[in-house]
Amino acid sequence: MERYMELQGQCAVVTGSAQGIGKAIAFELAVRGADLALCDLREDELRKTAGEIQAAGSVKVFIRRIDLAQENEIEGFVEEAEKSFGRIDILVNNAGMHPLHRIQEISSSEWDLVLQVNLRAHFLFCRQVLPGMRRRKYGRIINIASEAGKNGGTVAAAHYAASKAGVLGFTRNLAQQTGGDGITVNAVCPGRIATAMASAAGEEENRKFIENSILKRIGDPEDVAFAVAYLASPRAGFVTAESMMVNGGTLRD
Ligand SMILES: NC(=O)c1ccc[n+]([C@@H]2O[C@H](COP(=O)([O-])OP(=O)(O)OC[C@H]3O[C@@H](n4cnc5c(N)ncnc54)[C@H](O)[C@@H]3O)[C@@H](O)[C@H]2O)c1
Repeated sequence: MERYMELQGQCAVVTGSAQGIGKAIAFELAVRGADLALCDLREDELRKTAGEIQAAGSVKVFIRRIDLAQENEIEGFVEEAEKSFGRIDILVNNAGMHPLHRIQEISSSEWDLVLQVNLRAHFLFCRQVLPGMRRRKYGRIINIASEAGKNGGTVAAAHYAASKAGVLGFTRNLAQQTGGDGITVNAVCPGRIATAMASAAGEEENRKFIENSILKRIGDPEDVAFAVAYLASPRAGFVTAESMMVNGGTLRD
């Protein structure tokens, strides 16, 4: 039975956790006993999520509204979280944005913003939590990428696909640099998952995804959260530099 509380005494950071996949990840880690440091742009929604988690269990939850495009806000958040919990054992870089624009419609500022939120923020968070993880000789970093990082995606969003391919390269390189200190770094590549992001892609796109899948459905946020919980477990210590597809068998890679 103790196994189910295997994250007790650990602290997990989950970015973009007000809603969707990030919210499901926060719940899944809390169920296993992890205290949480949660951040998102959407403050009211984040507060609601934190309240729901606290009502369901006895873990501590620290929240802050931050913008992942702002380096100083990321730094301040990690500092405060480390001060509150004394440690960060698990980092889940989940927040992301997915503007649907064809190449001629993408301004260079939109390109930069997507890369900042979807890729640079992963780097900034990792750079800041790693010294503590190295000191403690333990860490679990999980980067949420996408099927689009492997196949380019099926909708017009070249900046999104580029950022997610970047997450995969970043993950594999960082895994090599940190493995000697007991730290694993992995990516999860969701297919179409029932969140606001998938709704924005439109019914026709979602129907095509279902047709191409083996399991004939869109995924639930909990499908991704369970994969993250596996990679966050102390028992997943021999898995690193992996990119795990959670996509109902659409892209087989
Ligand atoms: N839903 C899908 O079909 C799907 C598929 C593949 C990958 N993903 C990835 O999964 C992750 C979660 O996506 P989701 O479907 O839950 O989307 P979502 O839009 O429901 O949630 C994303 C969260 O990130 C937050 N966020 C966005 N920009 C931010 C910023 N600048 N600063 C702080 N927070 C910010 C949003 O406020 C939101 O709460 C993303 O990285 C996304 O790319 C989703």
